[in-house]
Amino acid sequence: MKILVIGGGNMGLTYAQSFLRSQICNKADMMILEKSPEKAKELAKKDIGTVYGTASECLSKADLVILAVKPQDAPALFTALRPFVEAQQVFLSIMAGIKLQTIAQALGLKKIIRAMPNLPAQTGMGMTVFTSSDEVTRIELVMVQNLINTTGKSLYVEAEDAIDGATAISGSGPAYVFYFMDAMMQAARQMGFSVSESELLVSQTFRGAVDLYNKTNFSCETWIQKVSSKGGTTEAAMKCFSEAQLDEDIVAGAKAAYQRAVSLGKTED
Ligand SMILES: NC(=O)c1ccc[n+]([C@@H]2O[C@H](COP(=O)([O-])OP(=O)(O)OC[C@H]3O[C@@H](n4cnc5c(N)ncnc54)[C@H](OP(=O)(O)O)[C@@H]3O)[C@@H](O)[C@H]2O)c1
Repeated sequence: MKILVIGGGNMGLTYAQSFLRSQICNKADMMILEKSPEKAKELAKKDIGTVYGTASECLSKADLVILAVKPQDAPALFTALRPFVEAQQVFLSIMAGIKLQTIAQALGLKKIIRAMPNLPAQTGMGMTVFTSSDEVTRIELVMVQNLINTTGKSLYVEAEDAIDGATAISGSGPAYVFYFMDAMMQAARQMGFSVSESELLVSQTFRGAVDLYNKTNFSCETWIQKVSSKGGTTEAAMKCFSEAQLDEDIVAGAKAAYQRAVSLGKTED
């Protein structure tokens, strides 16, 4: 299967490298279309497939086309691609906010998969939520899911609206986690730890807590009860968080991200 990645930026490069690393695709079958000549030159040095500068040279050779340009570059990209699109090709778009129907109309195609990956895809720990048009076959969907899974885990959703929810939780979520980590690092520094010591304490604590959570069947609430002994230190912190209704603020933040995703999607209609 020949894969064409359009846009050799952060995500396009992550995808190409991840597919090759997992040996799900070989270099001979990997093509990258990048409009910036400087970036194309840099990509060519990485030896991750054939790099092209225009759609006319490569689009018709591809079985799967991955759209990885910024959403604002999509209209110009659609215009450039449209003359060379073939009906049997499967398109996977990771462009935030751009709907299946918009892509279908702009390119005159039917087989489209829309995915929302997140930043940890760069290290193989990503979370991607994806959906598809009815015309994508089961086999094509499994093939694309296998590719996506080289960057982490994935979840298929029937309803395209769920992509807005995914944008607010797993898409923007890494920033929420960094925010919490940063606050804990500030606290560690105020208690006399150096910057590097604070980073170690906090990042290993996050890693350890998530690992424990993943390897057991306890809910977050149960784990909190397990580590909060009566009159102890954890209980003092949890009481403070609960009085400040920190959880409600986090829910409100995620809902604000969701509303923003919905409204950005509407401007695309
Ligand atoms: N980064 C993330 O964590 C993340 C998460 C979820 C979804 N996404 C989505 O992934 C997409 C890509 O994001 P990114 O961070 O990888 O962006 P990026 O680093 O800016 O990469 C996009 C690349 O596409 C190139 N490009 C633009 N128009 C093109 C065209 N017509 N033909 C070929 N190449 C073209 C750009 O070149 P120039 O720089 O010269 O314009 C740039 O090199 C976005 O739609 C974003 O919404 C990203």
